[in-house]
Amino acid sequence: MVMTSGWSIFIIIIVVAHIIGYSYLLWSTSKMKAKDYKEGETTGHEWDGIQEYNNPLPRWWLYMFILTIIFAIGYLVLYPGMGNYKGTLGWTQENEWAKENQDVLAKRAELFSTFIDKPIPEMIKDEKAIAIGERLFANHCSTCHGSDAQGAVGFPNLTDDDWLYGSQPDTLVQTITNGRNGVMPAWGAALGDEGVKQVAAYVREFSEQGQDEKLVAEGQKKFAMFCVACHGADAKGNHMLGAPNLTDTTWLHSFDSGLVETILIEGISGKMPAHGELLDEGSIKVLAAYVYSLTHE
Ligand code: HEC
Ligand code: HEC
Repeated sequence: MVMTSGWSIFIIIIVVAHIIGYSYLLWSTSKMKAKDYKEGETTGHEWDGIQEYNNPLPRWWLYMFILTIIFAIGYLVLYPGMGNYKGTLGWTQENEWAKENQDVLAKRAELFSTFIDKPIPEMIKDEKAIAIGERLFANHCSTCHGSDAQGAVGFPNLTDDDWLYGSQPDTLVQTITNGRNGVMPAWGAALGDEGVKQVAAYVREFSEQGQDEKLVAEGQKKFAMFCVACHGADAKGNHMLGAPNLTDTTWLHSFDSGLVETILIEGISGKMPAHGELLDEGSIKVLAAYVYSLTHE
């Protein structure tokens, strides 16, 4: 931090004045020779029957004071302390941090060196890599995906075979680095009340057979019009857009009564935050390997 020169001068004056002041105090009190003290003389201070004798400071005590003053002057020459003066060593908090960071990164590189250059399907055979990935996952991902990576409503389960974006190694690295934002638009206005009922029946029919046939047939037509662009003609989803497969029994959002309709009317979106600026490339690769290992032997 750089301060204005006014503050800088103010601080320098106070520091110098203190050092001179303490030195003078020390010098003036140590000037008295030991023979000048009278045995048993008191300073006149008394409290609760305890009297203070007027004895000289022990020599070693005095030398310690002198040493601390010399130390202070040395310190102020070498390190920043006098206002904006930077000290002859050029020490800064930023340098110190950069150095420590460098050390950590070097240690980490050594720790990663046995597996980090391998392709992810190879990397998952390394127990150490998976153990590190698990710890990184606990720190950075478990708040949303759960410590067992099984997700929750709106947060995908990473341990099943149902993927919004896919589980290829490159896809996982992409997902973690850049984040994802799946957007399902609102269809309430376009479909109308009746349309929503029909399309909902069509979507439900995949996992809960026995819906009203007429509704399902109408819903299928509307689905072909409004939904196939993202969810596909077979409703099996699209990894490019993160559009879920609607034909299985795995739901990203809970499919309790009424929720299909709500999602259709209001739309819904999910955001996986980008971690590219938070984590370095190596950690992201280890995390991708950990996620990959959850569904690949
Ligand atoms: C703030 C909550 C949050 C955090 C933290 C988070 N995620 Fe996600 N993640 C999500 C959401 C929400 C989605 C679904 C995105 C969507 O709906 O398009 C998602 C999607 C994913 C996917 C894609 C799943 C699929 O089916 O294709 C992967 C892989 C993933 N996250 C891994 C991670 C990893 C690894 C971390 C830790 C570095 C992490 N996530 C941290 C919320 C989070
Ligand atoms: C612009 C692309 C797009 C279109 C068009 C679209 N969807 Fe979606 N839909 C998505 C995405 C992306 C999601 C996942 C949202 C998320 O990440 O939370 C989704 C989610 C859903 C879900 C929830 C699935 C689950 O597992 O919880 C349903 C149901 C659904 N869509 C039905 C439809 C129907 C029916 C239509 C046509 C009326 C439609 N969608 C049109 C992109 C689309």
